Amino acid sequence: MIAKTEDDFNGLKEIGAICGAIRDELVQNTKPGMTTKEIDEIAGEMFEKAGAQSAPKGEYDFPGYTCISINEEVAHGIPAERTIQEGDLVNIDVSGSKNGYFADTGISFVVGKGEMILQKICDVAKEAFEAGLEKAKPGSKKSALGKAVHTVAKQHGLTVIKNLTGHGVGRSIHEEPDHIFNYFSRWDDEILTDGMVIAFEPFISTLEEEVFLSEDDGWTYLTDESFVAQYEHTIILTKEGPIITTL
Ligand code: CO
Ligand code: CO
Repeated sequence: MIAKTEDDFNGLKEIGAICGAIRDELVQNTKPGMTTKEIDEIAGEMFEKAGAQSAPKGEYDFPGYTCISINEEVAHGIPAERTIQEGDLVNIDVSGSKNGYFADTGISFVVGKGEMILQKICDVAKEAFEAGLEKAKPGSKKSALGKAVHTVAKQHGLTVIKNLTGHGVGRSIHEEPDHIFNYFSRWDDEILTDGMVIAFEPFISTLEEEVFLSEDDGWTYLTDESFVAQYEHTIILTKEGPIITTL
């Protein structure tokens, strides 16, 4: 959406703060021995208390309040009986709505002590986000964000996932612009505009550049031989600088 009115900004900031708080609470509670379903239930309670709805549940009938993905699961992991282990790479993605406004945020992190490479890809995902954020200005090319993300990945000897992308958000969970790529696409000549609301979410990978859909559950995006980390916030682009609603 294009945020224009005071109500737009306030509504987007309200749901952004709710989703950000849920994300942080879930990360804090992710401990070895817990199941992903137990972690997800905390989100269910927090959405209810805030008078907000889970977007994946409300919009897509997803079997969970949030998406929780472990190790070979990259995104859209279904909260269930899988138990968190020390050293796991976990991604928690929280999106929701209130009063018709939406926000989307996610983070990958390592539980306790894990392999060094896992912390590295999480750090690089955040660095790539920050590099892209520098380019997130009205009047700039949308493709500049992906270019910045890919450049940071390559500087660290890593790569990006090309078939998962950021997207417009605001009045629904996925809307125009449809794709904010994690690499430079010559075909992408779209210009960012004042008030545009986007979910920007670099995916940094150790090796592969594509994920594939699980045939077992039809939801989870998987990798074979890589580790992948994501870092996502909802951003309102303005002439005065980007406003991150989900901090
Ligand atoms: Co998300
Ligand atoms: Co998203």
